[in-house]
Amino acid sequence: MADLGLNYIDMMIIHSPKPWVDFQKEGRFFAGNLAAWRALEEAVDAGKIRTIGVSNFDEVDLQNILDNGRIKPAVDQVLAHIGNVPFGLFDYAKQHDIQIEAYSPFGHGEMLKNPNLQQITDKYGVSVPQLGMRYLLQLDALPLPKTLSEDHMRHNATVDFTISDEDMTLLKRVTFNDYGEFSGFPVFGGTLD
Ligand SMILES: NC(=O)c1ccc[n+]([C@@H]2O[C@H](COP(=O)([O-])OP(=O)(O)OC[C@H]3O[C@@H](n4cnc5c(N)ncnc54)[C@H](OP(=O)(O)O)[C@@H]3O)[C@@H](O)[C@H]2O)c1
Repeated sequence: MADLGLNYIDMMIIHSPKPWVDFQKEGRFFAGNLAAWRALEEAVDAGKIRTIGVSNFDEVDLQNILDNGRIKPAVDQVLAHIGNVPFGLFDYAKQHDIQIEAYSPFGHGEMLKNPNLQQITDKYGVSVPQLGMRYLLQLDALPLPKTLSEDHMRHNATVDFTISDEDMTLLKRVTFNDYGEFSGFPVFGGTLD
């Protein structure tokens, strides 16, 4: 915190329930996650962190913290965008009042190249990024888009329209998880090769 020049940190999250190289493997690290969680709880008790949460946690990883921790995770930050939403996890999080944050809401930018979304974007007079943002908001998730462009940032925040229930149902049926040149990226590939 001295390096950051801060007296407290707003929110700190555990990046992943397991080592990134083991991300797609079966093993769970319940004891390690709990130890990390208890350290975060102590930092909250000491007033050093306001809010704590997790990232890339599945239902069982969250259950481990809910069963054995003192403080409930405020958020679970997970990969989610049109075509790739972990709906079971979304339901579980809602049931336990844990806010889902959707990272890579444009599939690392690759989703923006999907031509199949044009019929719906034309209908609402919006762009694919705007549709992607609105879709996640209507699923009660908080999208975390990244951009280097101030114009894109403003554009992505302009989501003052409502996707109809019928179109939400259609969008939920879209499958898209081809990350093109980013497929080998550890976030999606699960290896550091
Ligand atoms: N917790 C985790 O494990 C985890 C993993 C991965 C990512 N994340 C976080 O999630 C955030 C976003 O993820 P991400 O960078 O992987 O992917 P993303 O937000 O899905 O996509 C970013 C790409 O979309 C482009 N873009 C954004 N707005 C646009 C617009 N209006 N029009 C055209 N292109 C647009 C950006 O290019 P421009 O710069 O040209 O706009 C960039 O190439 C990051 O802040 C990252 O820290 C977390």
